[in-house]
Amino acid sequence: MDGYLDHAATTPPRPEVLDVLGRWMGSANASARHLAGQEARRAVEHAREQVAGALGCAPHDVVFTSGGSEADNLAVKGIVWGALADGRPRPAHVVTTAVEHAAVLEPARWLAARGDVELDVVAPRPDGTVAVDDVLARVRDGSDGRAPTVLVSVMGANNEVGAINDVARLGAALRPHGIPLHVDAVQCVATLDVSLADWQADALAVSAHKLGGPQGVGVAVLRRGLAAEPLAHGGGQDRGLRSGTFAVGLIAACGAALERAVTERAALRARLTTLSDRLADGLAGIEGIRRSGPADASARLASHVHVMVDGVDAEALALGLDTAGVAASAGSACSSGAATASHVVAACGLTGTPLRLSLGWTSDEEVVDHAVAVLGALVPRLRAGGDVFGLAAVGAAGTAR
Ligand SMILES: Cc1ncc(COP(=O)(O)O)c(C=O)c1O
Repeated sequence: MDGYLDHAATTPPRPEVLDVLGRWMGSANASARHLAGQEARRAVEHAREQVAGALGCAPHDVVFTSGGSEADNLAVKGIVWGALADGRPRPAHVVTTAVEHAAVLEPARWLAARGDVELDVVAPRPDGTVAVDDVLARVRDGSDGRAPTVLVSVMGANNEVGAINDVARLGAALRPHGIPLHVDAVQCVATLDVSLADWQADALAVSAHKLGGPQGVGVAVLRRGLAAEPLAHGGGQDRGLRSGTFAVGLIAACGAALERAVTERAALRARLTTLSDRLADGLAGIEGIRRSGPADASARLASHVHVMVDGVDAEALALGLDTAGVAASAGSACSSGAATASHVVAACGLTGTPLRLSLGWTSDEEVVDHAVAVLGALVPRLRAGGDVFGLAAVGAAGTAR
């Protein structure tokens, strides 16, 4: 994909993962007892072991889902309903953050609206990171007579500004009190070490299409022993937490993608750090573009360069980038495609028009230099009130592509 700098939205599947997908699509039902069914079941169980190895959990902790959104919903609603079914007082108490993905915030708000939970939403620092002490200050152990906290949900890294949170410190503080921690690790897995055990977390959400796997499959890790209720009832697959015929091809591809992501992770992180530095350095030379997210490189994803652009309209910026062949996330959060203001940008108190350029395994210097050349021409032009026509030529002239 020429000019593609939107890997945080989705990254192209790796060819060898597509081979695995093709090998297992159309296989027998993995719950069937005949030989073909048993073969399909072995593919599912192999993927489960690959996933467990990649995420520092046991194979029986793994629940296959349709992606990150379902995994987050299962963790948030499932753990809350599990606690209520266990006899915890209603409304139960939940702590999360203002920069979570909608797949966490919306189910949490929905639970609050129906009276199942009392919700505490922690504000981030201006750089998008969440202070562990701010989260811990909201957690209740029940000693003061108020309903105790049944779930803390904090993302491993933010999908927009790329800020990384110290979830290991959070897990270490919560574990002695037996308070479950859910980590949305969707944006982490490609470039950061993710481990249920090391983080002392109880639940994780992961999505295959963010790490070289296909869209439509993901993983909810739910530590066995944790009280959780399913979203879908039926045939009782995956410990009864996610009923439905196993999507053997997608699951096998998800396992292969995660295993591959872990093998390649250190090299990819190093390569993307060099590329994102090159991109950020190039953008720093353009007046009115300010980098957001943590200043400390160790606190931000190697894959993300998020900037605020002064004095340009979001729609014009998006159109100009498209016209010049640069695919990036301009002006709005990636959701249903609606140009809504980003809740992350608002929570961080950032001003200007947000622009996220995100890199992945297919990115190279050429795509980075092309984006810098296009923005170097586009931003001053828009700020001066010009239109975007003729930008394709600017982009083409700026690079060899
Ligand atoms: C942090 C985060 N969580 C959850 C999701 C949802 O994942 P999916 O697209 O697989 O439903 C995304 C997708 O953008 C994400 O970035």
